[in-house]
Amino acid sequence: MPPPPNPNFRNRTIGVSTPGGLAVPPTTTKPPVKPSKKREKVALAPGHSPLDWAALKSSGKDLRGVDSLMRIPPSVLKVHNTREDAWSAFNGKVYNITAYLSFHPGGEKELMRVVGRDGTKLFALTHAWVNVDFMLDSCMVGFLVSEPSS
Ligand code: HEM
Repeated sequence: MPPPPNPNFRNRTIGVSTPGGLAVPPTTTKPPVKPSKKREKVALAPGHSPLDWAALKSSGKDLRGVDSLMRIPPSVLKVHNTREDAWSAFNGKVYNITAYLSFHPGGEKELMRVVGRDGTKLFALTHAWVNVDFMLDSCMVGFLVSEPSS
């Protein structure tokens, strides 16, 4: 007769998202590959941990600053390029990352490099494993579209 099911056993789902937005990697026999470039550690201000961000983004506070999702060409994205009004595009979606800047584990300075423009490439180069859609869902302002022809 087969043994009874263990109530403590939980199926592991590949790519599950944690409150910090990090995907849980599938179980593997090999150790994860470390990026070769030395990564700077950044001290986040008190109250700015990944869990604090998860709480803020789920709090219902308006982090978008727009009423509805828009079609956003690069010329419009470009206008939102300051610390106080920071938009960036990742994988075709545009986010208002103003509120997130001080929560970024890699530091505000790194994030400011992609403000007002498409940050997809830089994001993939630094941490392709981070689930940006999940982390910034409540900051989405629209979709990146090509410039309308005049
Ligand atoms: C808004 C989009 C972004 C989100 C949601 C995000 C999120 C994160 C998260 C969760 C981590 C911790 C990852 C880990 O330790 O494994 C991290 C670290 C880091 N991020 Fe980002 N990031 C974003 C954009 C960027 C961009 C565009 C850059 C580069 C220009 C960047 C550079 C870094 C660096 C260098 C670290 C490493 C910090 C460390 O190891 O302590 N990030 N980011």
